[in-house]
Order: sequence, then structure tokens, then C-alpha cells
Amino acid sequence: MIEITSPIRTARLVLRPFTERDEDDMLEFESRPDVARYLLNEPRTPEDNAKELAVRLKQHALREEGDTLLLAIELGGKVVGYTLLIWLSRPDQQGEFGYVLHPDHHGKGYASEAAAEMLRIGFEELGLHRIIGRCDPRNAASAGLMERLGMRREGHFLESQFFKGEWGGEYRYALLAEEWRRSRRES
Ligand SMILES: CC(C)(COP(=O)(O)OP(=O)(O)OC[C@H]1O[C@@H](n2cnc3c(N)ncnc32)[C@H](O)[C@@H]1OP(=O)(O)O)[C@@H](O)C(=O)NCCC(=O)NCCS
Repeated sequence: MIEITSPIRTARLVLRPFTERDEDDMLEFESRPDVARYLLNEPRTPEDNAKELAVRLKQHALREEGDTLLLAIELGGKVVGYTLLIWLSRPDQQGEFGYVLHPDHHGKGYASEAAAEMLRIGFEELGLHRIIGRCDPRNAASAGLMERLGMRREGHFLESQFFKGEWGGEYRYALLAEEWRRSRRES
């Protein structure tokens, strides 16, 4: 079990639980169609955004299998995205991670930096054995991020879901704890 009680600093970012003050920053990227394109949700209205923030306010710990830890990505005092970790299985020590970044800040490695910290939390603090990531095969930025983090593409599912009005596929990536440790030793 882990609980995030104070902000985590990476080289350029602060990762921390969402607060009520983040509603406007969050809406700025959550309302964008280009951000929601490959996410399960539609672009959020102010009402959807407020409801989602209420959920996120409670997602600061992993206590039980099924829980989600969701941390705001803060850059220069503003929330520009988030990264998450879902505890998929306690006995099998499995997790799934994810990330979203405001398009104004793409192309600088910020999402990779935040997501790498979430992998560290999953492997080193929660003691996970394996973390997966999933993305639509058309989401080249997301696939590229996972490859940059050293994850292995283990599957390409064709037309595995009916997604936003059409058949969509899925790439599934994974990283084992031992592979994570080895990459840390080598870097
Ligand atoms: C997926 C997403 C987070 C990727 O954002 P991103 O900024 O491309 O990702 P990274 O942080 O890994 O940045 C990588 C880019 O920064 C460049 N870069 C610059 N400095 C860098 C650094 N210090 N470290 C790493 N990359 C760096 C890389 O070369 C790469 O550029 P490229 O896109 O031209 O190849 C973003 O596209 C997004 O939020 N999309 C909408 C939501 C979404 O689809 N989420 C995923 C659902 S599965």
C-alpha cells in the first residue's frame, strides 16, 4: 500500500495529488478534442470536468487491488497533465499506467519524465512485478513514449473494441520489474 502525502519532484516537474484549485487548469486540456481523441472519455464540459476532479481528489493512494493513483503533472506552478497507476492484481503484482499532457507542452519529454516516475513508484514503492500500458495503434505519440521508456510491445489486437463510432485496435506494452532495475543500473 502507498499513499502520496507530499509533492514528488522529478528533474523538471512536480507530481502531486489533484486539489480543488486545479479545476481551471484541468479543464484547459481535458476539454480539448485532440487530447480526448484516443482516451475513453469525450472532451469534458465544465460539468464533466468538475465531476472528474471530485473523483481525482480521492485518488492519492493505492490501498487495495483495483485502486487508481492519479497524480497531477505540474510545470511552473500550473497543472499541465496527469499520470496514473492502476493496481490490477495484488497476488500477481500487476499494474497499468497511463498519462496525458496538455498539447502546448508536447515534444519536450515531460510526459515521459512523469510516466517514468510512475513506473518507479509502481516497481520500487508498491513492489509490482509487471506494469502494462495500452494505446490505440494510431496513437503514435503514446506508443513512442512507451518505447522510449524501454517497454516491450507484446500484443497488437485488431478491432478489439468498438471505440468512438468505429472499430479500434490496441497495442499492449509491458515492462517487468527486473527489466526496470536493469535499465536503472545501466543509465
Ligand atoms: C501521449 C502523450 C502524453 C505524449 O506526449 P509527448 O510530449 O509526445 O511525449 P514525451 O514526453 O515522451 O515527449 C517526446 C518528444 O519530446 C522530445 N524530447 C525533447 N526533449 C526530451 C527529453 N528530455 N526527454 C525525452 N524526450 C524529449 C522527443 O524527441 C519526442 O519528440 P517527437 O514527438 O518529435 O518524437 C501526448 O501525446 C498526449 O497527452 N496525448 C493525448 C492523451 C493520450 O492520448 N494519452 C495516452 C493515452 S494511451
